[in-house]
Amino acid sequence: MQTGAADALAVVHEHILVCTDCPLHLKRIQAVPGTGPAGARIMAVGEGPGETEDRVGRPFVGAAGNVLTTLLESIGLRRDDIYITNVVKCRPPGNRDPEPAEMEACSHFLDAQIEIIRPDVILILGRHALARLLPGAGGISGLHGRKVVRGDRLYVPLYHPAAALYQGSLMRTLEDDMLKVRGYLDEAEARRRQPVQAAPPVAHAQPDVTTSHSPAPPSAFPGHAEPLLSLVAPEPGEPVPRLGPPDPIEPPTPPEPPSRDQLSLF
Ligand code: URA
Repeated sequence: MQTGAADALAVVHEHILVCTDCPLHLKRIQAVPGTGPAGARIMAVGEGPGETEDRVGRPFVGAAGNVLTTLLESIGLRRDDIYITNVVKCRPPGNRDPEPAEMEACSHFLDAQIEIIRPDVILILGRHALARLLPGAGGISGLHGRKVVRGDRLYVPLYHPAAALYQGSLMRTLEDDMLKVRGYLDEAEARRRQPVQAAPPVAHAQPDVTTSHSPAPPSAFPGHAEPLLSLVAPEPGEPVPRLGPPDPIEPPTPPEPPSRDQLSLF
C-alpha cells in the first residue's frame, strides 16, 4: 500500500499531537488524531474524544465505541480496517459540545486526513460532524442513512452511536442504516473494478442527495497552522494527492434548513 499516504498521515498525526491552535489543548491529557490504515476505504468521523479517548489516545474506545464496533461488524467490517477520527481532536472539557471556533481551528486536520485517505465512503457520526462536513445539507433526522455527494466525496450521515445508548430505538435505525452502507460499499467496490474512466469514481454513484461545496470559514484562532496538505509529498510511482485548485468558492451557506438551490434530491 501507499507508503506515501501512510507517511503523510503519520505527519498529520504528529502535528495533531502537539497542536495548540485552540483552547482545547489546555485541558487535554492527549490529543486523539485517529486510528486505522491510510488505505482504508471507509472513514468514520465522530464529534470529539470523550474521557476514555482522552486517556487512551484512540477514538471511540468508550461505550459509544462499542456500539460503533458492533455496527461495523454487523455488516461484515472489521474496525481495524476503518479509519476512525473526530471533528475535534482534543476532548471538550466535561464532554460538552465542541464550539464552532474549535471545530474551525481543527478542520484543516480533518481535511488533510480525508484528502490523504480518499475513502470510498465517509460515515458522518452525529450532527456535529454533519454540520462540519456538510454545512447546509440538512439535519441528521432527514439525512441519516442516505448517500450524499458533495464535490467528489460520498458521505453517509448516521445518528451518533452514543445516541443509541440513550435512546434504544435508535439502535434499530442505526442497524438499518448500516445495511444501506453495506450496499453503498458494494456499489463502490463494483465501480472500483470497472475499467478506469475519465471521471472520478464517485461521479458514477447515484446519490440520494447532491450538495454544493461550502468553504470552511477562516480560523478563529490566530497562529493557526498551515494546511497540512502542503506536507504531502508523493513518492515516485504514487498517485499524486489532489493538491490542485480547491473546489469553486461559493458564498457560505447557513446551516439549516436546506435551501433548494443548494440541494438537489435524486
Ligand atoms: N468517542 C469519540 O472518539 N468520538 C465521539 O464522537 C464519541 C466518543
